[in-house]
This record gives sequence, C-alpha cells and structure tokens, in this order.
Amino acid sequence: MMQKTITLEKNNVLKITGPASFVLEKGAVRIFGFKAKPPFKYVVPSYKSLPLVASEKSCLNIVLGEGASINVVENDTINVWENLVEKVLKLEKPLIIITIGTIDSGKSSLTLLIANTAVNMGYKTSIIDADIGQADIGPPTFITLGILNKQVVSLTEVKPATYSFIGTTTPYRVMDKVIAAILKLLAKSFNLNSQVIIINTDGWFKGRKAVEAKLQTIFHVKPHVVFIIKKENCINEVDVLFKYLNRFNVNAIVVESPKAIKERSISERRSIREYLYSKYFYGAKIVDLDLENLVIMNLDALKGKFFNCKEKELLKEILSLKPEMQILHATIVNNNLIVVVKGGTVIVDSNVLRNIKETYGQVRLKVLSENWEKGLVVSILNENLEEAGIGYIEKINFEKGIVRIRTNYEGEICGLIVGNIRLMYDEKTHTVREWGKWSL
Ligand SMILES: Nc1ncnc2c1ncn2[C@@H]1O[C@H](COP(=O)(O)OP(=O)(O)OP(=O)(O)O)[C@@H](O)[C@H]1O
Ligand SMILES: [Mg+2]
Repeated sequence: MMQKTITLEKNNVLKITGPASFVLEKGAVRIFGFKAKPPFKYVVPSYKSLPLVASEKSCLNIVLGEGASINVVENDTINVWENLVEKVLKLEKPLIIITIGTIDSGKSSLTLLIANTAVNMGYKTSIIDADIGQADIGPPTFITLGILNKQVVSLTEVKPATYSFIGTTTPYRVMDKVIAAILKLLAKSFNLNSQVIIINTDGWFKGRKAVEAKLQTIFHVKPHVVFIIKKENCINEVDVLFKYLNRFNVNAIVVESPKAIKERSISERRSIREYLYSKYFYGAKIVDLDLENLVIMNLDALKGKFFNCKEKELLKEILSLKPEMQILHATIVNNNLIVVVKGGTVIVDSNVLRNIKETYGQVRLKVLSENWEKGLVVSILNENLEEAGIGYIEKINFEKGIVRIRTNYEGEICGLIVGNIRLMYDEKTHTVREWGKWSL
C-alpha cells in the first residue's frame, strides 16, 4: 500500500487504475460527468480504471493497492467525449442515444457520462441497460430501464424502474427478444416523459453477424444519435456499421475507445455478474408454487398434456427402461416427446425408435434426467403481467404438482418466464453463483 497526495491543475486528467481509494481534499473533479466536491471519497476496484478531470485546481489523497497506478495527463479521450456529449445534448428533445462497442470499449462509461451530463443540464433522463452479459443497472439476463433523479458516480446506483427478461447472458440467438425488450422499455420511458434516453448495448460486436445485429437494433429503435466506440480489435466492424448508417439519415458518431483502460477477465466478468445476482437475491427464501395455478412461459417440458400413470408405465416399456428406473414426467409438445427419467440412462436403439413411432407417431424423443431444471433462472410475473422479480428453480415436483423456487419477491406470483442460465445459492459465502447453461 502506498499513500500519495496529488495536485491537479485545471483540466488535468488523473488516470487511476485500481485497486485504489481517494479523498478529494480541495477543488472539484468530474468522473464521467459526475461533479465531485470535497470531501468526496471513492474506491476504485481492482477491475476498474477511471479518468478524473479537474474542473479547477484540486488536491487529492490517494491510497494505492497492489498493482494500482496513477498518471496525470493533459489530454485524454474523456476530454473529447465530454465535448461531444455536451454538443449532442443540445439536440432537440426527446433525444434517444445509443452506445455501441465491443467489450471493454467504454460503453457503460460513455452511457454514464451522457446520463450525468443530461441530468446536470436539468433533463429528465433514463437509461435502458441492454447489456445482458455485463449489466450495470438490473440483474444479468434482464434488460432494465433505470431512471436518474440525480447524478451518479456509477451506473450501479441507478434505480431500476422496469425489467424485461431475456433469460440468458449472451445475445447471439436472442436478438429479437433483445430488440423487443428495448422497444418495450423505450415506450415506458416515453410514458414517464423522459427527455433524454440512453441505450447501452451488449459487447457482441465482432464479425458481420454482430454488426448486423446492431444494425437491426438501430433500425427498430431509430435513435437520434448513435455513438460507435472504436477499439483497435474491431476497427473493421466500426467502419462497416458507420458506412451502413451513412446511407441513411442517421447521426452516427465514431469515438475512440480510451487508451490504457482496465480490461476485465472472463472470471472477473463472472464475479461481477454473481455480485449482481447476489444483490437481487438478497434475503431470498424458498417459495412453493402450485403448478396448476401458475402460468409458465418458455419451458416446453411443462406444456402439452402430461402423461398419466398408465401412460408413463407404457412409455417405460416402450423405452425398455430397467425396473429400478422411473419416468417422473412425460409430455408431447410440437412433435417432441419430452421425458424426464430418474435412476439411469436411456438407451435409444432402432427398436425403441420404431416402438415410439408406432405408438406416438412421428415424434422426436428428448430425454431429460432428474434435476434437469435445477437452478434455471426465472422472471417472476405478478397479477398485472409485470416482471416483478428474479428467481431460480430449485425443483419441480411433478408428483405433488409443485414448482419450488428461490426468490426474495414477496408479492403474489402468477407466472414465470424461464431462462437458460443456471444459478445456485452458495451457503458458505451467501452468494448466488452461475453454474452453467441449459437448453432443450
Ligand atoms: N478515459 C478513461 N480512462 C481510463 N479508464 C477509463 C476511461 N474510460 C473508461 N474507463 C474504464 O475502462 C473500463 C471499461 O469501461 P466500461 O466498463 O465503460 O466498458 P464497457 O464497454 O461497458 O465494458 P463491458 O463490455 O464490460 O460492458 C472501466 O474500468 C472504465 O472505468
Ligand atoms: Mg458495460
């Protein structure tokens, strides 16, 4: 640990890479548009770097942890960003702005800068956090609308207003859902009379498919301004998207990604997600829900007419299951015969397939083993068909007709939307952890 006192002249930029903490003793600094005054204190975590812009001559006391660094520069990307953002915010309201860039390019920081500047100019400001992988406002797997009432030093302080579940942390196969959710939250922010709406997107921006996905988002959202962040590993993508947008009357602005920013490793990203899950599961309890009275979306295994005991016995014979094995559940949905089996693996040979065809017609067999559902993240629907909370499935007991979930939502639960990320409660650390993905 090392302690330092730093004096900054007006407009100097102090670049801090964590882990570090500082106290602003004298003067005034801006952190992504947040205007800090003494005795402002802040901790820069190990996975973060920050630019502090001195609004006047300022003095700071800094404590540097292991691996931390500081550097005073006269010019930084943040200066260019600040000037551009100030100009953009003079445009007619309501103003929709979208930020696009690869991972670790500065999307969240630019979003924060725009939001703080807008709030400090007196505009009603909201943020749609559409980065399902590295969410800042809501829990991962959700797109969240956050409303700003005052400037914030970090997006995690923004109050969530409405959630829209996507169910996964990677956008590749769910772009339609992502776009629909953004549009839903956009309508909501208009209802709330937002004057400045900033949409932060996910970091999937490598390759043509990713560029196309962003183009589609822009096509549907019709933002007034598109900020594209240029980082050395996606120069081509930036150029292609910029060229596309130039064919139309879209106000696209390319900005440089900051130099020497702290990049986050896969495990750091996961830890950040787990920290967010834990926050949204704080005080969570087990809740048993009656399958009969529950509307479940996005889970084929719970659709169709469930097999009764006799039908399950017949299916057991058809599948040539060993005596000790048991069929917990079976249903036919969209020509899929979905079977949950306990006590062993099912061997599907041509005989079995022929018998299935003879009995059930042209169906595809999908076998799930016991506990297939354990941990699946869910969005909780209240009586107004609103997404009111997050949970995950502990167990589906078909015999008793009960879905057991873990959640801290306390209101009436009328429905669940099921995602494909598996979560678990870690008793030792009292945290919620990710332990895989699932799909049928
Ligand atoms: N001008 C700058 N100087 C130093 N660090 C900066 C600067 N701008 C942003 N950063 C830091 O760079 C890191 C990455 O920025 P940010 O989190 O905004 O990127 P991102 O594109 O949103 O990343 P992700 O893909 O994880 O969502 C953060 O630690 C941020 O504080
Ligand atoms: Mg981000």
